Amino acid sequence: MSRFTPVALAHASRLLNHGPTILITSLDPQSGRANVMAAAWSMPVEFTPPRIAIVVDKNTWSRELIERSGQFGIVVAGAGFADQTWAVGSHCGRDGDKFSRFGIHAVTGPVLGLPLIEDGCSAWLECRLLDEPGAQQKYDTLFGEVVSAAADERAFINGRWRTDIAPELRSLHHLGAGTFLTTGGEITARPVMESP
Ligand SMILES: Cc1cc2nc3c(=O)[nH]c(=O)nc-3n(C[C@H](O)[C@H](O)[C@H](O)COP(=O)(O)O)c2cc1C
Repeated sequence: MSRFTPVALAHASRLLNHGPTILITSLDPQSGRANVMAAAWSMPVEFTPPRIAIVVDKNTWSRELIERSGQFGIVVAGAGFADQTWAVGSHCGRDGDKFSRFGIHAVTGPVLGLPLIEDGCSAWLECRLLDEPGAQQKYDTLFGEVVSAAADERAFINGRWRTDIAPELRSLHHLGAGTFLTTGGEITARPVMESP
């Protein structure tokens, strides 16, 4: 049973604010084949409407599909999904369907019909690719406008990440070569006594 509930678009940037390793999903507009890759580089860049940046190497199949379809999905992977995250980030979808190959179940996005992942993951966003003339040939960075978002209520609720999030749903932060840190040990900032 899905524990995902919609996230208001005004809060969508918070899903990426802490720099989690994400999965980028895409769909071949001709064949309907789905693809997924791992990405460490993403960030919110605009408040309203919510826009995000992702960095996608021009040699990847994901890049080709995103440019041909004009859309992409973002999934925030949970710590329990580290093996699959590494797998989809180490193989190219041109060589075979990574969803069936690595036993990943996709759900369908409500607005763009993108393949998204809920099992083992904490949140997803559907994005429309922003067309920046010339930029896509020049830069690896792509910009997208978020059109729908949802999160597992055990991880993110009322527009905020929970601090009592289960270990397997904590986000992954890539150190390199398949080694990740997960979040934990939260601290809350207190007012600093100002010098007179
Ligand atoms: C943890 C992790 C993070 C990665 N981050 C990025 C990234 O930010 N940008 C990128 O272009 N590739 C990144 N990669 C590599 C892609 O996921 C990889 O090239 C993938 O095989 C592309 O798949 P595709 O050809 O099916 O699109 C990362 C890989 C891993 C394992």
